[in-house]
Amino acid sequence: MTALKDKLFQKIQEHRPRTTKLLKEHGDVKVQEITVQQAIGGARGIKSLVTDISYLDPYEGIRFRGMTIPEVMEALPKPDGKDYPYVEGFWYLLLTGDVPTKEEALEVVEEFKKRRDVPQYVIDVLRTMPKDSHPMVMFSTAILVMQKESKFAKFYEKGFNKMDAWDSMYEDATDILSKLPSIAAYIYRLKYKDDKHIPADNSLDMGGNFAHMMGIEPPYDDVARMYFILHSDHESGNASAHTTHLVASTLSDAYYSLSGGMDALAGPLHGLANQEVLRWLQGVMDKLDGKEPTPEMMKQFVWDTLNSGQVIPGYGHAVLRKTDPRYQSQRDFCLKHLPNDKIFKYVDMLYQVVPDILREHGKAKNPWPNVDAQSGVIQWFYGLKEYDFYTVLFGVGRAIGVLANITWDRALGYAIERPKSLTTAMLEEVVEKAKAKA
Ligand SMILES: CC(C)(COP(=O)(O)OP(=O)(O)OC[C@H]1O[C@@H](n2cnc3c(N)ncnc32)[C@H](O)[C@@H]1OP(=O)(O)O)[C@@H](O)C(=O)NCCC(=O)NCCS
Repeated sequence: MTALKDKLFQKIQEHRPRTTKLLKEHGDVKVQEITVQQAIGGARGIKSLVTDISYLDPYEGIRFRGMTIPEVMEALPKPDGKDYPYVEGFWYLLLTGDVPTKEEALEVVEEFKKRRDVPQYVIDVLRTMPKDSHPMVMFSTAILVMQKESKFAKFYEKGFNKMDAWDSMYEDATDILSKLPSIAAYIYRLKYKDDKHIPADNSLDMGGNFAHMMGIEPPYDDVARMYFILHSDHESGNASAHTTHLVASTLSDAYYSLSGGMDALAGPLHGLANQEVLRWLQGVMDKLDGKEPTPEMMKQFVWDTLNSGQVIPGYGHAVLRKTDPRYQSQRDFCLKHLPNDKIFKYVDMLYQVVPDILREHGKAKNPWPNVDAQSGVIQWFYGLKEYDFYTVLFGVGRAIGVLANITWDRALGYAIERPKSLTTAMLEEVVEKAKAKA
């Protein structure tokens, strides 16, 4: 067993009695009441998921294992001379709740290297797919086709034991996560770089090797580390995390579960929004024919989009009610590394004009930018201009969070998900009864 796996097992054993006690002794304590609006409106705000890996406060933003983004970036060990931490050390933090020492992080780096190679049949499948397949279709397919490697599925076939199920889930999660950057880089170069590939460099950590395989020079390695960490987890109710959890709850393995989660991420209201931001900005630039927009012009573009019935990509959020700290973190990066970049200036101008317009428009509950408003501009600056690839980058990051979560789902024996439906007539009856009582 690696030190990480040992520590994880110890944490699982410490945690289990808490879940057991809550269920056995306090199972019927009320958490909240549910309204008609919540039932029709996408289960917004219904507190029916449990995770200890991250928590999203509407005003403060995300905390990973109790730590804010700046605290995480500060506390975790970093490769020598780099500004951002090892992704592998972050994986350790999400799984165990403890900040690893550099030595502990490096042990995970080595473990990932051992599992990094992508099976040839995955490459073969990717190569037979239509060249105009969306990169997210290729990414999700690559994950799914590896399902035959699942250690959890084999464990289940041999005779399932609830107490030990976390072990093979952890193994699958580690296997998948180690391979994802190579799969993503392969898809990128297959689609956009004349099918010319760069072999892995085994001296490098996950972020470093990803940048290397993409063919992009430093500091893109730090961009990759930052990007994967920032996109990892946003508690369990967002569509990709929830889908992964839902599929896993049927005792499906991590391959099925993550592939499903990635399909949810591919929607324009979720992960695909980062691609949409760049596409939208490009529309603006095309209309301006290279000229710099004035704030008045930018306001007009925003209103035109709203008046045509579309959303402003990168703005609004189901939970957040302030500027997303993941946006802020990337903005700080831009201010340091690309303050004069033209697209960054556009993005910054949007930040100045959109919140007031959305408030005036009067629909969005949160007029502030989310993570997607800022992430594409950094990729673009470092030469990654094929914006339909951006959600794959998000997917590699999101995998860290959701795979940590489903490992814990197994450890704590979370049940198969099965919320209850009502008919519209039943809801109407509930309303009539409530009115009669009032
Ligand atoms: C993220 C998002 C899907 C959250 O949806 P939500 O929880 O339903 O948001 P709200 O409760 O604020 O939505 C209320 C209304 O405001 C609208 N609204 C929300 N964000 C908006 C935006 N950025 N631009 C225009 N309208 C917006 C919604 O479409 C909805 O309109 P409707 O009543 O006609 O259906 C939504 O804000 C959105 O579509 N944003 C743009 C896409 C995006 O950036 N996604 C990435 C999220 S990380």
